[in-house]
Amino acid sequence: GAPVDVDISKLDNGQLVRVLWRKKPVWIFKRDKTTIENLSTLNSILTDPDSNKLSQQPEYAKNIYRSINPNIAVIVGVCTHLGCSPTYRPKLGSADLGGDTWKGGFYCPCHGSKFDLAGRVYAGVPAPTNLVIPPYYFVADSLIRIG
Ligand code: FES
Repeated sequence: GAPVDVDISKLDNGQLVRVLWRKKPVWIFKRDKTTIENLSTLNSILTDPDSNKLSQQPEYAKNIYRSINPNIAVIVGVCTHLGCSPTYRPKLGSADLGGDTWKGGFYCPCHGSKFDLAGRVYAGVPAPTNLVIPPYYFVADSLIRIG
C-alpha cells in the first residue's frame, strides 16, 4: 500500500482525524500537557504500560506515550480483540467508563475493551494487547507520513 500523508498544522488539542492506511483506520490526534501527564498515572491498571509485549511495535512505541512526539498520537484504530473500531472517548471522568479513574481514551463497543489515550489496553478486558502503532515519520514539523 502507498504511504499516506497527513497535514497536522490545523490540529487542535484533543482533536482527532481519521485516515485510511492499507484499508485500516488510523487516528491522528493531539494531546495537551495534562493528557500527557495523566498517561503515567494509569500504568498500574494497564496490561502492558511500556508496550513490551507486541513484537511488531516500532521502537518509538515502546514507552508510555507510544509516539515519536509525545504531543502527537498516531494509532491504528482497530481493536486487538476481534477487529472492531473503538470509539474516541476523550472526556475525563465518564461515568460509564470508570468515573474518576477514566482519563480519556477509546472504548470498543463490541465487547467492552478500553484503551487509554496512548492506545494502551486496560487490564481485565477482552483485548489482549495495546493498539498497534503504524510505521510513520515526520516529513516536516506538521506533516506526517504513515507507511
Ligand atoms: Fe473490541 Fe472485542 S472487538 S472488544
